[in-house]
Amino acid sequence: MTRRALVAGNWKMNLDRERATALARGILEGSSGDGAEIAVFPPFVYLDAVGRVLESSPIAWGGQNMHFATSGAFTGEISGPMLTDLGARYVIVGHSERRHVFGESAELVGRKVAAAFEAGLVPVLCVGETIEQRRAGETRQVVFDQLAQGVAGITPEQAEKLVVAYEPVWAIGTGETATPEQAQEVHADLRGWLTERYSRETAARIRIQYGGSVKPSNAAELLAQDDIDGALVGGASLEVESFLAIVAAAR
Ligand code: 13P
Repeated sequence: MTRRALVAGNWKMNLDRERATALARGILEGSSGDGAEIAVFPPFVYLDAVGRVLESSPIAWGGQNMHFATSGAFTGEISGPMLTDLGARYVIVGHSERRHVFGESAELVGRKVAAAFEAGLVPVLCVGETIEQRRAGETRQVVFDQLAQGVAGITPEQAEKLVVAYEPVWAIGTGETATPEQAQEVHADLRGWLTERYSRETAARIRIQYGGSVKPSNAAELLAQDDIDGALVGGASLEVESFLAIVAAAR
């Protein structure tokens, strides 16, 4: 089973309206449409403008987070239906910055994953260990637990469409990347867990991206690993050239 790689840019809280739309336009003009699937995750306030640039193109866009409720008294939050209303196909859920900076629990992340599918979005469920957890030999236990709670509320049919992103916390924004072997080992463990939980067929369909200081210089080696099905890119996704070089490396 060949999985189509997904290379995604998580723009985090960066750019302004003009730079966000220019970046989207640059990616659109510089990409061929074949090879890896491309998605971008702009800040909420620029989603509409970016969506207008990318509409009727093969490039997808999505939210960096969402609330699990469809509407209500949740000041400052954004719902899944609001994202689909803007043409979003994906939503990042459980990014390590949400878990560690904003205190989101694995249980809350699971509710968001279920709500994303409910809204017609494909969640990109992020998992990853801290450096202390890795040093203590707890990596598998940590990512399995995040995955288990993440998928707790979804059906096997929904699980087939899920995207998982393995992002070791110690590799995010630090310039330090997991080696291709370190990443592949965790990706294979995650696919093994998914095989036990669902089936070999389902696990073979689920794309598992790697994220954490992915750059043009290390992308090809990482993406050549059997169980690495794309990249979730932060810093290097903010420039057209470096992002497209990573997309090209996914061939
Ligand atoms: P960097 O590529 O900047 O390390 O960020 C990775 C990330 O968090 C993507 O979601």
